[in-house]
Amino acid sequence: MTGCFAVGCSSPPQPDANRPWTAAERALLGSLTPIPSLPPSPGNRVADDPVAVNLGHVLFFDTGLSANGKVACATCHVPEKWFTDRLPLAQGVGQAGRNAPTLIGTQWLPYLFHDGRKDSLWAQALGPMEAEVEHGFDRLALAHRIAKHYRQPYEQLFGPLPPLDDLTRFPPHARPVPFQSNHPHHVAWLAMADADRMAVNAVLANFGKAIEAYERKLVPREAPFDRYARKFLAGDPTAAQEISPASQRGLRDFIGRAQCVNCHNGPLFTDRGFHNLGLPRVPGQTGVDVGRSLGAQSVKADDFRCGSVFSDTQRCEELRFLNPRFEDFLGAFKTPTLRNVAQTAPYMHNGQFATLNDVLAFYRTLPEAAQVGHRELVLTLLDPAVSQSDLVAFLETLTGPLPDGQWLHPPQPIPPPDAMTGTTP
Ligand code: HEC
Ligand code: HEC
Repeated sequence: MTGCFAVGCSSPPQPDANRPWTAAERALLGSLTPIPSLPPSPGNRVADDPVAVNLGHVLFFDTGLSANGKVACATCHVPEKWFTDRLPLAQGVGQAGRNAPTLIGTQWLPYLFHDGRKDSLWAQALGPMEAEVEHGFDRLALAHRIAKHYRQPYEQLFGPLPPLDDLTRFPPHARPVPFQSNHPHHVAWLAMADADRMAVNAVLANFGKAIEAYERKLVPREAPFDRYARKFLAGDPTAAQEISPASQRGLRDFIGRAQCVNCHNGPLFTDRGFHNLGLPRVPGQTGVDVGRSLGAQSVKADDFRCGSVFSDTQRCEELRFLNPRFEDFLGAFKTPTLRNVAQTAPYMHNGQFATLNDVLAFYRTLPEAAQVGHRELVLTLLDPAVSQSDLVAFLETLTGPLPDGQWLHPPQPIPPPDAMTGTTP
């Protein structure tokens, strides 16, 4: 699924930073900028509805949507930290097994999570809600809290809520709990009528749709790199003032002999695919993370995937062409965007590298023993002639301003946690 896009894959160009740019290099540079307009989200009919944006915006900051009343989406996706938490592994009600990625730029991704186990932003949002180490919440408690505090905007968008006051039909806590059939939430879930379960699942899906409407506001903004490229390609002599000479050399290596652009391509600097880089084991690591090979199977089996009864579209091209072959994606993880990357340390799906220099030291040495599976052949040893500090200087030019200030704080006061929904049994 990946070819060699870098200039000079077969015959490396001369390492002379001053030689004129070739037509191929200019074309490649043009493919990395500007930031495109937002793609539609056909599976979510309220994706661009201002009422949904506002509802999702407040829900994103609502710590009442957690088992201990302390965890919101914004706990791990901290707006001022470019919507990451700067921890190796995320910390919610418990400790997550992976690093929290930025939300800026996710609007273009066909698959979400490091292993791509969700195929839309709205379906993604349902995962952390019920993950025991994240919000540790459950879909019934969520529905009750929406009914209590957010009924008006919810019903305006999605129509009447189910009769949640009837606690015999809609218990305070219930959800399907995989592999724990005697968990009290699971028992309560199975005791509900089919139609009531469907109605609650619809509330859960609609929660995700409101969250996505807010997340769609978190788009990357023009970075020094974009200004440089625009002026450079237009022949404007002031281009060179936008980024340092070291960054300009790093850029040329990035699209040339360092071959980064083979995977980090397009204006989001990601091919939106999955690769096994052959990352070394982390000291003390137990078990292995097989990544995309499980993610590909999960997304096909997901109740909230594109084309499901909760989806507003039945056209699901991405899923139709998904390669579910387990062994093809063993140990593969999503190519992350490199926009704002200097702000989102630590790096990789497990946060194993603290700095950009550590990431590049890895690409420079490619240690042999992969954690799982095999390193993809498209990844080759970083040319020793490439300056690491030039590459870092270039990556730093991909930092743009944070999203507009209004999106960094809740739009209204958050209601306190509910006694009924703020606790687990
Ligand atoms: C406990 C910390 C934590 C909380 C709380 C949390 N997340 Fe995350 N988020 C993560 C981690 C860790 C990942 C990556 C997990 C994985 O790939 O398996 C992630 C992944 C994501 C992604 C996928 C990004 C990508 O590039 O694929 C999105 C979108 C997201 N979270 C949104 C949310 C929303 C919306 C909420 C609230 C409903 C939320 N998160 C709550 C830690 C958290
Ligand atoms: C074979 C495809 C491929 C190539 C070539 C490649 N990368 Fe990556 N890159 C990835 C993938 C996949 C990840 C995420 C791996 C993970 O999460 O375990 C990644 C992660 C990164 C990260 C960490 C980002 C984050 O948010 O965690 C940086 C920085 C990075 N690459 C820069 C580069 C640079 C610079 C080059 C060229 C020297 C390069 N990459 C070449 C696929 C590639």
